[in-house]
Order: sequence, then C-alpha cells, then structure tokens
Amino acid sequence: MSESAPSSVTRLVRSVRFRITLAATIAFGLAFVLVAFGLVRSVKSTVEDRIRSDGNHAVRDVAARLEAGESPEALRLPARPPVALVVMGPDGEVVFTSPGYYGGDLPAGDLPERATVVRQTTSYGERLIFYRHVAAPGGRYTVAVASPLDSVRRSVDALSSVLWVGTPMLVALVGMLAWVLVGRALRPVEAIRAEVDEITHTTMHRRVPVPGSGDEVARLASTMNDMLDRLERASDRQRQFVSDASHELRSPVTTIRTDVEVALTHPEGTDWSQVAERVLGEAGRLGHLVDDLLELARIDEGRARRVVEVDLDEVVLSETSRLNAGVTVVTEGVSAGRVLGDVQQLTHAVRNILDNAARHAASAVTVTLGRFEDSVVLTIDDDGPGVPHEDRERVFERFTRLDEARDRRRGGAGLGLALVRRAVISHGGTVEISDSPSGGARVVIRLPAV
Ligand SMILES: Nc1ncnc2c1ncn2[C@@H]1O[C@H](COP(=O)(O)OP(=O)(O)O)[C@@H](O)[C@H]1O
Ligand SMILES: [Mg+2]
Repeated sequence: MSESAPSSVTRLVRSVRFRITLAATIAFGLAFVLVAFGLVRSVKSTVEDRIRSDGNHAVRDVAARLEAGESPEALRLPARPPVALVVMGPDGEVVFTSPGYYGGDLPAGDLPERATVVRQTTSYGERLIFYRHVAAPGGRYTVAVASPLDSVRRSVDALSSVLWVGTPMLVALVGMLAWVLVGRALRPVEAIRAEVDEITHTTMHRRVPVPGSGDEVARLASTMNDMLDRLERASDRQRQFVSDASHELRSPVTTIRTDVEVALTHPEGTDWSQVAERVLGEAGRLGHLVDDLLELARIDEGRARRVVEVDLDEVVLSETSRLNAGVTVVTEGVSAGRVLGDVQQLTHAVRNILDNAARHAASAVTVTLGRFEDSVVLTIDDDGPGVPHEDRERVFERFTRLDEARDRRRGGAGLGLALVRRAVISHGGTVEISDSPSGGARVVIRLPAV
C-alpha cells in the first residue's frame, strides 16, 4: 500500500471515530469484567455465609437446650430455616433427627473434638458438617447439622450464565452507542472539510457550516469563518487597489497618446516643443505614481528597512529648503528631534506632507519640531482651505483626492498621505490631521524618540 493513498481499512483504523469507539469499548469491557468477577465472588460468599450462620446457630441452639436438660427425644426445631440436624448418643446411635433427615446425611467418620465444622466430599457433592459435643445431664451427645453446598454452586452458575451472555451484549451495545455518538459529533467536521476544499480565491465569499452544538467543532467553524472574512476583505482590498492603480496609470498614458496622435495628424501646424513639454509632464506624473506604488509595496512587505538613528530636524530642514518659491516657509520652531528609522521612508513622508501644505497654502507653511516626553512631534501648518472634519480619516486611504478636478494636474494620485501613514505606523508612530490656528490644515506626526 503506497503511503500517499491509504486503503479504506487504514483510513478507518486511523479515524478518530474508530479510535474513540475502540477505546471506549475496551475500557467498558475491562471494567465490566472486573465488576462481574466481584459480583460472582460476593454472591458466593454471601450464600456460604448464610449457610454457615444457619448451621452454627441450629447446632448451638440444640446443644444449649440439651445442656439445659431437655431430652433429645422431645426436641422441636423451628421450621425456618430448615436444617438437616441429627443428635447422636455416646455410642454413635441416632437419638433425634430433624424432619426430612435421612441416613445419608450422617456425618461420615469421626468428628474431631476441637473443631466445630468439617468439609466433606460425598457422592452427591461437597457439604459442611457443623457439630458440637455436648455433656448433658442425660449423657454425652453429638449434635450435627449437614449443609450441602450445591446451593452455592447453583447460585454462582446461574449468575455466571447471565453474565456470560450479558457481558458481550452490553459491550457490543456500548461500542455501537459510542460509534453512533462520535459519528454524530464528528459529522460537521466532514462538512467543514468539504466546504474548505471548495474554497479558492474566486469563491472567497463561501463560508463553512457552523453546527448549532456550541462545542469545539462549532468554535473551530466560526473561527474559520472569521479567518475567511479577513481573507476576503484583504483580497477585496487588493483587487480594488489593483483596479485603482491601473486606472490611475491609464490616464497619463491616454493623455500622452492623444496628444501625440493629434500632433501627428497635423504635423505642420504643431508646436512640437509644447507637445514635448506636456508629454514630459505626464511622464513625470507616471514616474511619480510608479515610485509611490513601489514605495507602498516596499512598506507593506515590511522588510529591507535600514534602521538607523535619524535626526528628523535635518530631514525637515533639507526638505523645506527644496520647496518651490511662492509660499513662505517658517522653520523657526524646528528644534532637535532624533528617532530610530529608515531615512528614505521618513524623508519621503515629510516631503509628501510639505508638498500638500505648499500646494494648498495661501501664503505660508509653518513647521515645528520638538521633543515632548518620549515622543518627537512634527507639526506642519498651512493657511489654505484645511481638510473638512469628515474627510480627515479618509484622506489617508489610497487614491483619495478631495478635489479631483483641481488637484489632478498639480497633485498626485492620492497616494501621498497613504504612504505617510504606512511609514509612520511602521515606525511605531501616529499621524493625524487637525486645524491650524490660521484656519488651514495641520498635520501632526508623533514618533517614539530615541
Ligand atoms: N494641507 C492640505 N490642505 C487641504 N487638503 C489637503 C491637504 N493635504 C492633503 N489634502 C487633501 O487630501 C488629499 C489626499 O492627499 P494625498 O494623499 O497627499 O494625495 P495627493 O496629494 O496626491 O492629492 C488631497 O487630494 C487633498 O484633497
Ligand atoms: Mg500629496
């Protein structure tokens, strides 16, 4: 049998259902056999004890009466319990027998002086002789009771035959019960397995059946469904992202193509340097977009980060110095702030925020940086229109632009703040947008200080 395809017997033997059933049956069988043995022993000793106590009692009773002077000929015995009792005179002659006594019940051979009971084997089985030698006023007597032990054997035999038949039946019943119950408990597992088997990236909406039992299997099923929820959401986000990115990449390509096509249709009337400039502009946007996408992918991968001590004030000052003229940049509030991180990612994040601020500012961008307790806090204010309350979370999502028409030419594809947030979070920090005192937007970044 090859290892990859176990036979149906092997599969059955390895199944949880079979193993639990087997274990339960064996355990029950062993326990029941032990109980049966105990039962037989206790029945045997109970019946024997009763015989002994009846025999001893009758012998003691009659002996006491003879010692008290009662004549053996006048003895009367209680009808219950019936005992086979004989009284013999000094020479062994029988002077009294209980009703139903017959000669074969006579104790064979001598009865020792010391003992009060002997075990004898006769032609019809084992028996016990209880006896006592009595020195009575009328002479020396021997009182003896003969008790056959076959009633003990009969009781034991009856019980044993019931047990011999009953035990295998009970064990089989327990085995069947275990088989059925375990099978029922495990049925949802097979249903879950079959459903999971069918789920691929194109059928991510499917969920495994959750049994109403509230047991471990039900918990496993709902945990699996939670996982499928998360995977489906991630897959949806991924799909959405790819479609958004394709869409963003398509528009500059289309613009370039249309421009060039129109120019080629009327080559003589075309200002080629103007066409070249526009193509260059669109190519620049394309390059920018691709850079941003790559950067996002890199941050998402979460590796290849060169973590060093970074002087954030140096990063901020060098980035503000490359902002285009037209807005005043105030950097008086920038003091030292050192963090642990990736210079490239941090520089990129600062640049994205400064670009946004400069683009939206009416006249001035104000930057402050300082260390507060365990954090380095960077604030970038502008005096532009600000970001409306309801959009302050949304602008951090990918491809979100608030003013499509106006920003398309000047701004990016709406990836800037998404990148900022990814970078800041991967550095263990936070970023949020609020109001600047001048009425514009204020972006605050907090990073753990070194
Ligand atoms: N300082 C700001 N003032 C006003 N709106 C802003 C500011 N910064 C960002 N926004 C808004 O948030 C949107 C997303 O910003 P961002 O992710 O950098 O994308 P992009 O700059 O490519 O448009 C911008 O389109 C803009 O509408
Ligand atoms: Mg931007």
